Amino acid sequence: MFQQVADFLTCSFFFALLYADFTNCAKFFQHPDDFSPTVDYDFVVAGGGTAGLVVATRLGENPKWKILIIEAGPSNDDVFATHVPGLSPGPEIDWNYTTTRQAHLNGRDMEYSQAKILGGCSSHNGMIYTRGSKDDWDRWADLTGNEEFRWDKILPLMMKGERFTKDIENQPVEGRFDPTVHGLHGKLSVTVSPLNVTNPFNDLLLQVTEDPGMNDEFPFLLDLNGGKPLGIGWRPATMTHNGERSSSATAYLGTTNDNVHVLLNTFVTRVLPAGDNKTDFRVVEFAADPQSPRVQVKARKEVIVAGGVIGSPQILLKSGIGKREELEAVGIKTLVNNPAVGKNFSDHAMVPAEFDTSLPTTNYDIDAAIAEWNKTHMGPASHSGHLNHVVWVRLPKNISLGAADPTGGEDSPHIELSLVSINARTPEMIATESEGTVLRVSTVNLHPISRGSITLNSSDPFSYPLIDVNLLAQDLDYVILREALRSAQRLFSAPSFESSVKAVISPPANVTSDDELDAYIRSKVTAWIHGVGSLSMSPHGTSHGAVDPDFRVKGTQGLRVVDASIIPSTASGHTQAVVYGLAESASLTIARLWQ
Ligand SMILES: Cc1cc2nc3c(=O)[nH]c(=O)nc-3n(C[C@H](O)[C@H](O)[C@H](O)COP(=O)(O)OP(=O)(O)OC[C@H]3O[C@@H](n4cnc5c(N)ncnc54)[C@H](O)[C@@H]3O)c2cc1C
Ligand SMILES: *[C@@H]1O[C@H](CO)[C@@H](O)[C@H](O)[C@H]1NC(C)=O
Ligand SMILES: *[C@@H]1O[C@H](CO)[C@@H](O)[C@H](O)[C@H]1NC(C)=O
Ligand SMILES: *[C@@H]1O[C@H](CO)[C@@H](O)[C@H](O)[C@H]1NC(C)=O
Ligand SMILES: *[C@@H]1O[C@H](CO)[C@@H](O)[C@H](O)[C@H]1NC(C)=O
Ligand SMILES: *[C@@H]1O[C@H](CO)[C@@H](O)[C@H](O)[C@H]1NC(C)=O
Ligand SMILES: *[C@@H]1O[C@H](CO)[C@@H](O)[C@H](O)[C@H]1NC(C)=O
Ligand SMILES: *[C@@H]1O[C@H](CO)[C@@H](O)[C@H](O)[C@H]1NC(C)=O
Ligand SMILES: *[C@@H]1O[C@H](CO)[C@@H](O)[C@H](O)[C@H]1NC(C)=O
Repeated sequence: MFQQVADFLTCSFFFALLYADFTNCAKFFQHPDDFSPTVDYDFVVAGGGTAGLVVATRLGENPKWKILIIEAGPSNDDVFATHVPGLSPGPEIDWNYTTTRQAHLNGRDMEYSQAKILGGCSSHNGMIYTRGSKDDWDRWADLTGNEEFRWDKILPLMMKGERFTKDIENQPVEGRFDPTVHGLHGKLSVTVSPLNVTNPFNDLLLQVTEDPGMNDEFPFLLDLNGGKPLGIGWRPATMTHNGERSSSATAYLGTTNDNVHVLLNTFVTRVLPAGDNKTDFRVVEFAADPQSPRVQVKARKEVIVAGGVIGSPQILLKSGIGKREELEAVGIKTLVNNPAVGKNFSDHAMVPAEFDTSLPTTNYDIDAAIAEWNKTHMGPASHSGHLNHVVWVRLPKNISLGAADPTGGEDSPHIELSLVSINARTPEMIATESEGTVLRVSTVNLHPISRGSITLNSSDPFSYPLIDVNLLAQDLDYVILREALRSAQRLFSAPSFESSVKAVISPPANVTSDDELDAYIRSKVTAWIHGVGSLSMSPHGTSHGAVDPDFRVKGTQGLRVVDASIIPSTASGHTQAVVYGLAESASLTIARLWQ
């Protein structure tokens, strides 16, 4: 009951509008024309996404500080699909990016989804909550010189931010998580999959961990978030006890007071120097659209750029912070010459695999499910997926990468096998020998060493940057993907799946040699859209990297970046929990500097 009252009292955009006179919710402006600032802002946050709203909320906990968030997209409250775990909001709230033609994929390009809405990708993502490994965070501390990133320091912060729910739909989830690594009283709601999801696949998968000969590669893992993510465990998701998505917009911004202001539907065109000092970037320029007048707002203390892995380098480059020759080539005057801005962009590489099964599908009647969700917040649409687990694998010992091992250490996986769905066969598949269903699995290289870039094609602030994720530029990235496909084949050849998974569909059974697998990989690989690194953090005084360990853009004052772009290498898992963690850490760092 208390929980429900507390949830009801969480501010939302509508709530703030209705009760603006007698609540302390964040204050919203719908459009730059409505923006009539009555205060001087201490901090201006450019980008109201996953990280931006964490930082704005935490800084706003100091009632003396006034915060302005500028977000290009609309409020999440207005978009029904952001609330229902079984729905995914579509292109109407997406930037609809496309990558450049990929040099190592025969010139193929691909879509690169990024949310354009309050809450950023946390309002539209798959809700999987995985923190990466202890090895990842300790390596990031080494690479960046930021000691706050050590696992032993970041874990308590991630737990502080977390509101783990031990029961969902009134069903306890004991045996599916380790209570010592979860926080119960934070902001972001997290649960593991509910008991009610009953596809027999889920039980068979857990049985594999007890099959003879399988346990080395596929042990049971009680908690995916304890720092050593190897094995098969229950998948946690960012959702509330009552079947709703939890995002940085609902869980963080929703708890702020009226010292936090939000300007929606407004695009940040650039940051610029506040006065004569050309490296003191405390002014933010914005506009509703290319035709509208540009408006400026000054931060008394700092500007925090949080536009995400594409938006943030775009803002810096358009402001004249980047590699001089490249900026000059598109007619932008260089204010801070830093060749690292937009470089070292990387992402997980994903290749799909399909298996012929006799298992029931995970499909359901979506209209009936939404009607049920509308009434009770239960039923099949109250889950983000109906296959309940995550599988993380290290390369078998006989595949030695030696010094080239791209993981942070032996307790980290090279591979994720992500269980997507079980679907009816499509007509062209029915031509083959079986008429069963199709199990779809994403096999993922979690640690590619290829590096891409975000660069400008034009000085027009509204034009999209060139997004080159540069997949498979390095041979080592193939090795891991080949083994990912082979690992998936071993998993589904386990005794427990003997009577339910009958054959491989893709890659086809005759595609087995390294060369054949490589051709398959090249034709199917896509970015998994867990991009990082385009504004990598590096130690003070180094000649590479875009931001310092205190998140400050190198060579500037009053300007920081806090989002996925500062992470130097991909995580051993999905990215959002990592972003929540680093944003909590950045908030403490920034608050401490201004206390
Ligand atoms: C389709 C999809 C599914 C995913 N699924 C998962 C998952 O299940 N689990 C997981 O852990 N991770 C997942 N991820 C990744 C994860 O959500 C992201 O890594 C993370 O949320 C990024 O956070 P961020 O703060 O860096 O950026 P974002 O959350 O993208 O925030 C950036 C914000 O800045 C705004 N912005 C950008 N440029 C401007 C500008 N010039 N002016 C004003 N505003 C601007 C954007 O509109 C956006 O709101 C998924 C990502 C995608 C795209
Ligand atoms: C993305 O495409 C959809 C239509 O498919 C459109 O509604 C939306 O406005 C587009 N996003 C942007 C930022 O242009
Ligand atoms: C700008 O300000 C910073 C910090 O106050 C100072 O270190 C720097 O020297 C100044 N630069 C110029 C050109 O005055
Ligand atoms: C990319 O990162 C590596 C490793 O930190 C660094 O050596 C290199 O200089 C970076 N590249 C650029 C263009 O900054
Ligand atoms: C569920 O509720 C939403 C939002 O109120 C509404 O738009 C939708 O039509 C409803 N769907 C069903 C099937 O009841
Ligand atoms: C889940 O189980 C609970 C308790 O048995 C029940 O009330 C609820 O309706 C079930 N939900 C679904 C989707 O079956
Ligand atoms: C490596 O070991 C796996 C079993 O763990 C085996 O299936 C595979 O054939 C071996 N590969 C090589 C190259 O020896
Ligand atoms: C880059 O700019 C040129 C000239 O303006 C344009 O023709 C081209 O389509 C742009 N490329 C991309 C990928 O946007
Ligand atoms: C595999 O078999 C299919 C169908 O018989 C054939 O078209 C394809 O060329 C074969 N591939 C290889 C790598 O042998």
